Amino acid sequence: MRPVDTNADQSPLVVELSAAEFRDRLQEALSVYVAAMGYPQGTEYHRAATWSEHLRRSGWRAVAAFVPAGDSSSEEAPARLVAIAYGYRGAPGQWWHQQVRSGLRHTGWSRDRIDILLGNYFELTELHVHPDVQGQQIGETLLLRLLEHRPEEGVLLSTPEVADEDNRAWRLYRRLGFKDVLRHFRFGGDNRPFAVLGRGLPL
Ligand SMILES: CC(C)(COP(=O)(O)OP(=O)(O)OC[C@H]1O[C@@H](n2cnc3c(N)ncnc32)[C@H](O)[C@@H]1OP(=O)(O)O)[C@@H](O)C(=O)NCCC(=O)NCCS
Repeated sequence: MRPVDTNADQSPLVVELSAAEFRDRLQEALSVYVAAMGYPQGTEYHRAATWSEHLRRSGWRAVAAFVPAGDSSSEEAPARLVAIAYGYRGAPGQWWHQQVRSGLRHTGWSRDRIDILLGNYFELTELHVHPDVQGQQIGETLLLRLLEHRPEEGVLLSTPEVADEDNRAWRLYRRLGFKDVLRHFRFGGDNRPFAVLGRGLPL
């Protein structure tokens, strides 16, 4: 893999990853995911196959943020991946798409309205910043970069419900204009309530 340079001022460098680069950095990206979500060690093994399958989907795009590795005295030191975001074009047949469609039906949305919402959207699948560097607008930078020049008409995502929408993810999405699509929705096989949020593109 080509070396990743970081900015001279040591601020994180945000770059788009090719599919090959994403595969090379998959374990690092999954470690960031586990740390950011506070999941138990080992969760990354289950997710590796899913993330690898996703990168074959139409419209897949990933961006990552890098900082210099611990030993800054060496210019050759590989950069450390500290944040990851990816998504792809939503389509019928995808599990998430079917779940959201079914949730909207149960909430009383008409078929036409659902078809419009789910007809042309980008699914923001994952967005995670390592806890060491959260709160520095890296998440916002990644999200804006990921959604730049997208051909879709809108973007949809799901995020766990939290009391009073009081976490960084909720504040970020609200700040960027994401609105409620579904609230307190339970995806199959997961007891936790989620919100599905969305907004039009471009941002
Ligand atoms: C959610 C997450 C991706 C956000 O990334 P981040 O880099 O930590 O957060 P941001 O850069 O967007 O925002 C950080 C701070 O910048 C400030 N900020 C950014 N832009 C701002 C603006 N335009 N005006 C005012 N304040 C702003 C905010 O105060 C914010 O801090 P706060 O959220 O504590 O209020 C990251 O915190 C994370 O990975 N969390 C755990 C995993 C997770 O929840 N992922 C999403 C699951 S759907």
